[in-house]
Amino acid sequence: MKDTFNGFYAGKRVLVTGHTGFKGSWLCIWLHGLGAEVVGVGLEPYTEKDNFVLSGIGGKIMADIRADIRDGRKMKELFAQYRPEIVFHLAAQPLVRLSYEIPVETYEVNVMGTVNVMEAIRATDSVKVAVMITTDKCYDNKERLTGYKEDDPFGGYDPYSSSKGACEIAIQSWRRSFFNPEDYGTKHHISLASVRAGNVIGGGDWAKDRIVPDCIRALEAGEPIGIRSPKAVRPWEHVLEPLSGYLLLAKKMWEQPTEYCEGWNFGPEAQALSTVWDVASELVRQYGQGELRDISNPAAPHEAGLLTLDITKAKTRLGWHPTLDMKQTMALVADWYKRYRREDVYSICMDEIACFLAS
Ligand SMILES: NC(=O)c1ccc[n+]([C@@H]2O[C@H](COP(=O)([O-])OP(=O)(O)OC[C@H]3O[C@@H](n4cnc5c(N)ncnc54)[C@H](O)[C@@H]3O)[C@@H](O)[C@H]2O)c1
Repeated sequence: MKDTFNGFYAGKRVLVTGHTGFKGSWLCIWLHGLGAEVVGVGLEPYTEKDNFVLSGIGGKIMADIRADIRDGRKMKELFAQYRPEIVFHLAAQPLVRLSYEIPVETYEVNVMGTVNVMEAIRATDSVKVAVMITTDKCYDNKERLTGYKEDDPFGGYDPYSSSKGACEIAIQSWRRSFFNPEDYGTKHHISLASVRAGNVIGGGDWAKDRIVPDCIRALEAGEPIGIRSPKAVRPWEHVLEPLSGYLLLAKKMWEQPTEYCEGWNFGPEAQALSTVWDVASELVRQYGQGELRDISNPAAPHEAGLLTLDITKAKTRLGWHPTLDMKQTMALVADWYKRYRREDVYSICMDEIACFLAS
């Protein structure tokens, strides 16, 4: 694999929470390709068709562990046993609509789970860098046209979004209280950042109420694709875009621990914003078949209508920028779903990473 991180990850011990999920499985595949010693901590994958299962990445990484981040003692034990140097915390209940059904569990996993992971980090002297994954929805969404900046207030209407806003407040508090850059080198050796991506799309996601899995399920069943919020504008991005940002950020944090321990947005360029309808149309075009139907229902639970991220900070200070336009993004997304039933999924992911790095 082409190594754009100049060998940084080779031999590094990296713990990924939520490794059995959509983004976590892609991150583990990329890290494994870079030669990292990956320890994954998560629950059972959701379906037999998940990227984690089909890619077989669980059998390739150093340790594939099933554990619940709500169990703080277990987290400390695992961190003490595996002694990671870098942590990517992705484990979460990540669905807005499900969070209306299970608000308490959403808070337990997202907020207290994150606190447990930070406490495990605090108790383990091997950890030098921790990147905590929240979401663009952590900001107080005013449905405004301009993108949210890293220092905009946190908030969130639904339980998922507000739980991630609460996560951000907890991360900020732990950084001030225990991992303060002013005390680096004297009281601690940890650089802690949080990262906010947009609506992440890519192969191997089968989550309920997400546009790409919803489209693919309908396409595979030969049914029309029902579009709930056709006009909603989202910051869509291929999964490899934010992951490239997380990997770059962690390397920079390792090299200059007090320079980058803050919040970062990793969204698409403003001109890449599109409506749900346009994204689904492009997927149908790239997939080669399918038909869309507007099924918007005014009585449905509240979902944000407009949400964009300002990525100026990541571009100017990290030198990170998104590389795929919407057509290229959907070509990669469609590629995975067209190939997964016939081909080796680990190789599909490797091909897509190579294609992404060549773009
Ligand atoms: N997919 C997106 O569009 C998107 C956008 C922005 C942010 N995010 C964030 O990225 C992260 C990963 O999202 P995803 O789309 O891959 O989600 P996913 O649902 O595919 O994966 C979630 C992972 O978390 C694990 N998990 C859930 N509850 C757990 C628990 N109690 N203990 C241990 N592990 C648990 C699951 O086993 C799985 O491995 C989440 O933090 C999510 O909020 C996702």
